[in-house]
Amino acid sequence: MSEHVLALPPQTEAMRAAQQLITESLIHYEGLPVGTRAALSAWTAAENYADCFIRDFVPSGLVFLLQGRHDVVRNFLRVALRIRDLQEEIEGHRGLPRVMPASFRVERHLDGGESLHADFGDRAIGRVAPVDSMMWWVLLLQAYVRETGDTALAADPAFQRGLQSILGVLLNDRFEVFPTLLVPDGSFMIDRRMGVYGHPLEIQALFFGSLNALAELLLPSEATRPMLEQAVKRRAQLTEYVRQFYWLDLARLNDIHRYETEAFGQDAVNPLNIYPESIPDWLVDWLPDAGGYLLGNLGPGRMDFRFFAFGNLLAVIFGLATPTQSDAIMNLYEAQWSDLVGRMPVKLIYPAMAGLEWQLLTGSDPKNTPWSYHNGGNWPALLWAFAGAAMRTGRGDLARRALEIAEPRLLADDWPEYYDGRNGRLIGRRANTRQTWSAAALLVAHGLIREPDRLAFWAAPEGV
Ligand code: GLC
Repeated sequence: MSEHVLALPPQTEAMRAAQQLITESLIHYEGLPVGTRAALSAWTAAENYADCFIRDFVPSGLVFLLQGRHDVVRNFLRVALRIRDLQEEIEGHRGLPRVMPASFRVERHLDGGESLHADFGDRAIGRVAPVDSMMWWVLLLQAYVRETGDTALAADPAFQRGLQSILGVLLNDRFEVFPTLLVPDGSFMIDRRMGVYGHPLEIQALFFGSLNALAELLLPSEATRPMLEQAVKRRAQLTEYVRQFYWLDLARLNDIHRYETEAFGQDAVNPLNIYPESIPDWLVDWLPDAGGYLLGNLGPGRMDFRFFAFGNLLAVIFGLATPTQSDAIMNLYEAQWSDLVGRMPVKLIYPAMAGLEWQLLTGSDPKNTPWSYHNGGNWPALLWAFAGAAMRTGRGDLARRALEIAEPRLLADDWPEYYDGRNGRLIGRRANTRQTWSAAALLVAHGLIREPDRLAFWAAPEGV
């Protein structure tokens, strides 16, 4: 197996070490490689770092696809689909939500047998629901089909049932008036309380990306046609809403600064009743003249002005941001490089929350103290998305610059999970080392710099 993984020989020492780490992290089930462990050396006793996380597998899956190691991705997609059926009913709920788990593991028994175990949020720290998992699964299936031409896998009845049920979950009407998806706190890569309940950008970008993928993968039938039609309408609404209301640049900030409030009716300019007083101090002089970004979250009377890297980068890669907005996001990176990239690409959220705000919104979480972990830490796992967004906007210079910063440090520090400090200068206080997606992200970034169009399968179709 490992011979195949090494089929494309990595060129640098760091690339060789990253490749080695991914190979060692492989999990097998019924004799086949089906996923990668999250980390090979865990700082805490948190035993789930030995699991394969669906979201963490994405950069590993991209590495395997780039290297022609399609079987691993196919096995992963099959196993993750099977695991949905392991979900136990939650008492008091009508049916199973049929989400994908956050993570799974293979347990070996004394008699030599194996069984699959999964965490659907029912075991996770804080009992957070992994809403992003099912969307990442759909996106990886799309990537696999486009790379291999193996449309038969997606057409398989079990896969079609899975896709149909995921689209059903995504389009399910709840207590909502917005086209965005409403989710609980910690339901995505940021899987702890961080004031990210509601309509976080990362979920909206994934929602957009998976609606595109579902339209491509789900075969039209009597049962699916109405859903597919609804999906097209929802995507149009979502796109317009995010591009208009999540967008922030100097012109928009000026508008918000002078917003009229308390306006009732269909034509209100400030429909969500955002109070200009909620604009934070740090923002006004920080936002460059020729840059912009998509807001972190938006709801009634609420604008989360923090910059969330993953959501912005995915919005560029999927084409949820317009080409002009995408350029402006990369301009912001360039203008605020030390805050948003600094000593390790890239900062997860800017700026950190401190004091009372940290107490109230994180529940005084010591792992998320200011400029650490999710609360303003720097995450090398996002390097692939940064390189992907930079290449898509023709900013290969930024992708290369980020890679040059990351590569020697990641190798020397043994692939930490995250870095701390305003500029990401310190290794994360409680960071694991040998974190698989930190290594995979470096290899994907290299691959994208070599072949900028390799993520084109995720770009929205013409006209969206
Ligand atoms: C942390 C991260 C989460 C990741 C997991 C495994 O919980 O917040 O995004 O999937 O670690 O690496």
